[in-house]
Amino acid sequence: MSDGYLRFESVTKRFEPIQVVAETDLSIARNDFVVFLGPSGCGKTTLMRMVGGLDTPTSGRILLDDRLVGAPDRRRGMVFQSYSSFPWLTVAGNIAFGMRYRDDLRAAEKAERVDHYLGLIGLEAFADHYPNRISGGMRQRVAIARTLAAGSDILLMDEPFGALDALTRERLQVELRRVQLHEAKTTIFVTHDVEEAVFLADRIVVFSQRPARIVAEIDVTGRLGADRSLDLRESRPFFELRNEVLHLIRHESGDPA
Ligand SMILES: Nc1ncnc2c1ncn2[C@@H]1O[C@H](COP(=O)(O)OP(=O)(O)O)[C@@H](O)[C@H]1O
Ligand SMILES: [Mg+2]
Repeated sequence: MSDGYLRFESVTKRFEPIQVVAETDLSIARNDFVVFLGPSGCGKTTLMRMVGGLDTPTSGRILLDDRLVGAPDRRRGMVFQSYSSFPWLTVAGNIAFGMRYRDDLRAAEKAERVDHYLGLIGLEAFADHYPNRISGGMRQRVAIARTLAAGSDILLMDEPFGALDALTRERLQVELRRVQLHEAKTTIFVTHDVEEAVFLADRIVVFSQRPARIVAEIDVTGRLGADRSLDLRESRPFFELRNEVLHLIRHESGDPA
């Protein structure tokens, strides 16, 4: 038995000769939406790749549901900044592709799940479109829907909105948060954007510059509640928390501003 659905136990990572991740202990509760916030190059992607099984810790270990994290498998769904969809499959086909290993689901159940996640992420009207005919924002929606439909235990998102324009990005943040409210999923979302972190997170884990070390953990849902809307973004509590986090990061990076 343990507390924490996903646990980092004394995890470090070196790419000789560089220490990328300092000794890190972290515990993440089931269905928590956790944002890893830190400056570019601090080691966020490396942390995420280790959770996904694409890299292994130099020392320490990562446990998911009390089992050692190993090679990538469908328990961990990953969404990256640039999504490679299959151009010969429609949007619906791409989402269905995420379920190709789900032998436990009948064809009709798979079709239902495709419809459900198309609706959840606002893509109903684009089911029969091909990826090269839709926007980058929509392609990221497809990636998210595909990963949710696959039914992985944990969602790993590495700056998935990084390449999108501000308005599209904001819209997808609202939708992702709405999905979390309706179908909570253990999620690690990586970003260097403070506002994105505050808007999306149940909890923010702030990392230092390389080698990544935890500087602070912030209970955002305790401060702002779980229900996030565009109005919240313009509210005083949001602004205050955003400023607090900014100060923390400036202080950490030694920036006197
Ligand atoms: N496979 C690798 N080999 C050597 N160095 C790496 C490798 N992957 C990442 N790094 C280095 O680790 C540091 C952290 O990288 P990364 O985890 O991508 O940071 P972030 O995602 O926070 O921007 C960088 O200095 C990067 O150059
Ligand atoms: Mg990165």
